[in-house]
Amino acid sequence: MATAYDIAIKQEQSEKDGIAPVIAVENLRKTFGSHMVLNGISLSVNRGETLAVLGRSGTGKSVLLRIIIGLETPDSGSVCIHGQNIVGLAIDRMGEIRKKMGFLFQHAALYDSLTVAENVAFPLVHHRKEMSRSERGERVNQLLAEVGMKGDFGKMPSDISGGMQKRVGLARALALEPEILLLDEPTAGLDPISSGEIDDLILKLQRERKMASVVVTHDLHSAKTIANRLALLDQGNVVIEGTFEDLQQSNIGFVEDFLKLS
Ligand SMILES: Nc1ncnc2c1ncn2[C@@H]1O[C@H](COP(=O)(O)OP(=O)(O)OP(=O)(O)O)[C@@H](O)[C@H]1O
Ligand SMILES: [Mg+2]
Repeated sequence: MATAYDIAIKQEQSEKDGIAPVIAVENLRKTFGSHMVLNGISLSVNRGETLAVLGRSGTGKSVLLRIIIGLETPDSGSVCIHGQNIVGLAIDRMGEIRKKMGFLFQHAALYDSLTVAENVAFPLVHHRKEMSRSERGERVNQLLAEVGMKGDFGKMPSDISGGMQKRVGLARALALEPEILLLDEPTAGLDPISSGEIDDLILKLQRERKMASVVVTHDLHSAKTIANRLALLDQGNVVIEGTFEDLQQSNIGFVEDFLKLS
């Protein structure tokens, strides 16, 4: 019989070979009171891959992301990160796993009372306590340069545009060099030019860092640009999962309507 050690070694090897998914969600169910939100969702994301999660408002996209981050507990099902099920994991162990994840929330992307630089420094202050002040300052500068915001480090979030706030949110999400990037509506509320710039930035980061990413979006154009695969949710289920071409070729009525209306 294989020991836990054998299994761990095998897992590590298959990850190196690029076989095991970084994120594997199996049969996830979630209800709030009598309201069923997720009804058996299964999805997986490999290293270097971006999965776009699409669906109408209220279909549970943000809930799904919050479950993957461990901020919400599913009623049943599993969320495996590098093969480890995080559902019901002790807080300290979850904290360790969460350090591998960078996330950008749908709302309130930044702390209003902190400057741009302080926002980006926040995860470093809390999780890289060994870093000196000057090392941290240098790292923040690098991160801000990476998202094209180097000159704005001293500004307050209220003094920069929505697109710039998303950029800073992205820089903060990248601060701990995550293997997993989870973005909830990174282009929502932005004009098409700013949206395009954020999409380009996400693509660039993906190419450079080869993270496993999940991007929740309403924006089909953006999903098509940044994602390798798309999953369309409706009424708690994945209606279809595949490439943009797979969606285009689908004759499922809901998929056809979604593409027509998007
Ligand atoms: N903590 C909660 N308590 C009760 N209901 C909740 C909670 N969180 C989410 N819901 C409900 O779950 C459903 C899905 O919410 P969710 O925010 O995931 O939708 P969404 O697909 O992200 O929508 P949008 O596109 O508008 O962001 C909604 O009906 C919402 O009201
Ligand atoms: Mg949402």
